[in-house]
Amino acid sequence: MKFMSKKFNRTLVTAALPYANGPVHIGHLAGCYLPADIYVRYLRNTGHDVKFICGSDEHGVPITIKAKNENTSPQLVVDKYHKIMGDAFNDFGISFDVYSRTSSKTHHETASAFFKTLYNKNVFTEQVTEQYFDEAANQFLADRYITGTCPKCNNTNAYGDQCEKCGSTLSPTDLIEPKSALSGNKPVLKQTKNWFLPLDKLQPKIKAYLEQHTDWKSNVYGQCKSWLDSGDGLQPRAMTRDLDWGVPVPVDGADGKVLYVWFDAPIGYISATKELLPNNWEDYWKKEDSRLIHFIGKDNIVFHCIIFPAMLMEHGEYVLADNVPANEFLNLEGNKISTSRNWAVWLHEYLEEFKNQQDVLRYTLCSNAPETKDNDFTWKDFQTKNNSELVAIFGNFINRTLVLTHKFYNGVVPAANTYTKDDLIVLEELGKAPQKISAAIEQFKFREAISEWMNVARIGNKYLADTEPWKLIKTDEERVKTIINVALQISTNLAILCEPFLPFTSKKLFELLNLNHLKWPSAKQTSNIAASHKINKEELLFAKVEDEQIQKQIDKLLASKEKNDSTSTANPIKPETSFDDFTKMDIRTATILEAEAVPKTDKLLKLLLDTGVDKRTVVSGIAGFYKPESIIGQKVCLLANLAPRKIKGIESKGMILMAENNKGELCFVSPTNLEFNNGSEVR
Ligand code: MF3
Ligand code: ZN
Repeated sequence: MKFMSKKFNRTLVTAALPYANGPVHIGHLAGCYLPADIYVRYLRNTGHDVKFICGSDEHGVPITIKAKNENTSPQLVVDKYHKIMGDAFNDFGISFDVYSRTSSKTHHETASAFFKTLYNKNVFTEQVTEQYFDEAANQFLADRYITGTCPKCNNTNAYGDQCEKCGSTLSPTDLIEPKSALSGNKPVLKQTKNWFLPLDKLQPKIKAYLEQHTDWKSNVYGQCKSWLDSGDGLQPRAMTRDLDWGVPVPVDGADGKVLYVWFDAPIGYISATKELLPNNWEDYWKKEDSRLIHFIGKDNIVFHCIIFPAMLMEHGEYVLADNVPANEFLNLEGNKISTSRNWAVWLHEYLEEFKNQQDVLRYTLCSNAPETKDNDFTWKDFQTKNNSELVAIFGNFINRTLVLTHKFYNGVVPAANTYTKDDLIVLEELGKAPQKISAAIEQFKFREAISEWMNVARIGNKYLADTEPWKLIKTDEERVKTIINVALQISTNLAILCEPFLPFTSKKLFELLNLNHLKWPSAKQTSNIAASHKINKEELLFAKVEDEQIQKQIDKLLASKEKNDSTSTANPIKPETSFDDFTKMDIRTATILEAEAVPKTDKLLKLLLDTGVDKRTVVSGIAGFYKPESIIGQKVCLLANLAPRKIKGIESKGMILMAENNKGELCFVSPTNLEFNNGSEVR
């Protein structure tokens, strides 16, 4: 256990400050808040001095763009989402010691003072450069106000500060074919003064820092290394912006400028610690025996591993991160999670369907966390994790143990007699579990940790299945006492060991066992519940998730998808037409009686239609989508008074109405919900 060595006496854990511009979804949770929470809870359980810091990131372009889109002010946006996000984290048991915000007075003062310190130490280079400017909006285009093609990976939706596809940090002038996100216009270049952090000059120091941390997760270390080693290495980066939302730049000649959001936001970790511990926050930030850990998603790696450490180094008083366990991304049902396309599972919506089942989501997201590569969340998998693991293994074991304790012993823990060889094997495994789970958590391997925990439940479940106390009670009452005692020891350990992952369940199980919360077991400790102790009546810890519930969630996603596909590919509405013009068209319901391919064409079918008025031939370009025999009897809408046309020598009288689905296939616009009559007019 490396970090438990004498070196560190306290730990400060930070989770990336989320932009206060939308509610929280499962991607946020899986990316950093859940692993951070598991880690912190584990440290608390093992008696460590730890503080857990987070808050809303309320500056920067993501906020002002949101305000513009919602036709409101940045302040109202952050007020709204700061509350929503804080509540969602709380609802899911993310146990921050403080959830602050970067619009707070403390933060403005702290960030300002930090900048001034660097300024006074002559860390920054002052530079007049040409920056993109939107003449229509009369505004400089920093960061996400500008989009274009990434010069590294050709992603056409890269932002002025970063490409989310390949993770590169960018400057607006790096973009190919830049476009203003405000007006869509091509921007012009205009001179402006800004203060730059000379990362180029600092590169050797940053490199030395990274070299001390070859133990970091390989996705994190590898990404940092490739920046340092690539082409020209690190480049100076502006720490100020020509914007009106943010922390004003606290020096003369900087009117209308604010601190770069990635300068102020990480200082938010410091401000939040100050708010939490006004008197001793410095212990966590400035003492050598303090350990700083940043939990983040992979798009934040460069800021936490290079830029923020560089700022802290140059300031001189602060400790640097000892580890930055970044996760990769979580996808949803095979697609990238997207707020704008509503391709997400929102935490507040989850709770509407799965009331009080936070731990099921925590369990699924942890077992399937994108720790080393991007991963996919699927509702089917969620259901399986719940039904086949939480219900069938853990829940089943606990329930049987508690039921039998009540049935045989009135809820009083029986004393164990002599252990058999099998008992001893089970107890030995149980004794090893805390250490295995600890080791995995300490290496940020949360998937492994939670699966080690479920293995303990598996052992318990198998133990009962093998020993069959419900049968044995008839022949060997003494033996059954030992079995139930062992099962209760396993249950108690499960309650302790699941606290970091499943805090709601842990609490409930402790209540059922009529125990107060217990600390993490020491090595080999297997006995945590005493003989003669009385437990409470059993209750089910988990309920089965039904197919209908899952289908409902999948349908919801499909509905967003359809909505998006239709809005994103839809052509603009055509110029206005009059009602008279409309009534000139004779659209009728009809039925396809016969269909055959038109020879020597790929696209055309010759159809015979019953229009209720006559039977007529129509040629339609749908052969690519339907086999003739499959559409006999199909109900359609027909534009019946379209002037006849000769197509491939066949006279076609009218046109059937079709629409494209989201795969670009033509589908019948068919009057399925009419009590069907051919010849009924569509109007
Ligand atoms: N708001 C950023 C994001 O959501 C993260 C900021 S982390 C901090 O990507 F270090 F700057 F606070
Ligand atoms: Zn890119």
